[in-house]
Amino acid sequence: MKLWGGRFTKPTNELVDEYASSIQFDKKLAVYDVQGSLAHVAMLKKCEIIPSEDANTIAEGLKKVLSKIEAGEAELSNEHEDIHMNVEKLLIDEVGPVGGRLHTGRSRNDQVALDMRLYLRDAIAELSDLLKTVQQSLITQAKANIDTVMPGYTHLQRAQPVLFAHHMMAYVFMFQRDVERFQDSLKRVNKSPLGAGALAGTTFPIDRHFVADELGFDGICENSLDAVSDRDFVVEFLSNSALVSTHLSRLCEELVQWSSAEFNFVELDDSFTTGSSMMPQKKNPDVAELVRGKTGRVYGHLMGMLTTLKGLPLAYNKDMQEDKEGMFDAHETLKGASQLFAPMIESMKVNKESMYKAVSNDYSNATDLADYLVNKGMTFRESHAVVGEVVLNCIEQNKYLLDLTLKEFKQYTEVIDEDIFDVLMPEAVVNARSVEGGTAKDSVLHQITKAEKLLESAK
Ligand code: ARG
Repeated sequence: MKLWGGRFTKPTNELVDEYASSIQFDKKLAVYDVQGSLAHVAMLKKCEIIPSEDANTIAEGLKKVLSKIEAGEAELSNEHEDIHMNVEKLLIDEVGPVGGRLHTGRSRNDQVALDMRLYLRDAIAELSDLLKTVQQSLITQAKANIDTVMPGYTHLQRAQPVLFAHHMMAYVFMFQRDVERFQDSLKRVNKSPLGAGALAGTTFPIDRHFVADELGFDGICENSLDAVSDRDFVVEFLSNSALVSTHLSRLCEELVQWSSAEFNFVELDDSFTTGSSMMPQKKNPDVAELVRGKTGRVYGHLMGMLTTLKGLPLAYNKDMQEDKEGMFDAHETLKGASQLFAPMIESMKVNKESMYKAVSNDYSNATDLADYLVNKGMTFRESHAVVGEVVLNCIEQNKYLLDLTLKEFKQYTEVIDEDIFDVLMPEAVVNARSVEGGTAKDSVLHQITKAEKLLESAK
């Protein structure tokens, strides 16, 4: 018989049990459900809402129920719909009718909101830590490649050379903001909804702050209707997760490109690549591709959650049961990706020669010729036009800027001197950008120091 079966004269249609139950996925909340129930029962005892002895029996029973669930020994059934009622049923089986006192002054509506918040708090801590390992791996590569020059791109056209370390550090700062966003969101996640009851609060003299403190919350949700009906904290988690996916996917795309024969800038370690069933020569960057591909499901969960909430009247509606799978999946997806990412980045071989060859065979030092002319007194517009002409002629003659002789340079303008050849070398081009945040070696070392401090202070 259902825990709420009193007012019914017929059993639930079996298909309804199957369709409407959430136990197959919300069993993931078991540990949080029990954690919340332990705090709730401690409060019922302290406030003398239930007898002390019963509270102790319930607390012991709950712990046994959790170990049985964790050991896979508990029978979780669709009939009891969700994790909350399954736990209550198992508790009553364990300790007898006294278990029926647990739900005093509580509803599944505030209970589920609580479980979701407890779950997310842990998920956020775990993902933040994992992202830090990704940042660390990028910093390791940055340090190892503080002298590695590569082509920098805009429009995927060679633009100006940059340090490979600079490129790695760009991602370190992206992930830093991702971690900060997760941490900022805790302000809103870490509030206790318990005590909101089904929607309007409860008639029992409960102590919401006691429960909040027991569970390590920073405070309580101020309005009971809001507490049980909003899932904006889930949307926020999904949105923050979507941005992590965005950043991961961009790095993945670069890894896929860089490890192609056309680029040949990096080689992913054998242990993070796979072969082809037909083509013996293949080594595919599957992990990078999959992480890129899984961005779709994370974005999808964000859209799904927003759409589920759109237009829902207050307060709780069963629609909201749809909040869980996307949240679990986004968490698992990012966890899987970031666990693989750190060792994949760290074990990646960086092909310095190939990158250097690329920057030596292009016109990515053209801006530096233009800047040189400006330093000699030309306006930037004027120098841009002159250098445009130089490049055009070079292209026609199949030459790069450094192939020109001083005499040839002087045909464009007399102001060019012998020192131009040093100015146009890839390392010089990079190191000329010593502005804070620029790609010069010292600027990048400065970024590394800053990033390491940020990572250290987040510990
Ligand atoms: N399984 C439900 C959910 O996840 C729990 C809350 C159910 N409340 C209710 N009144 N049916 O949303």
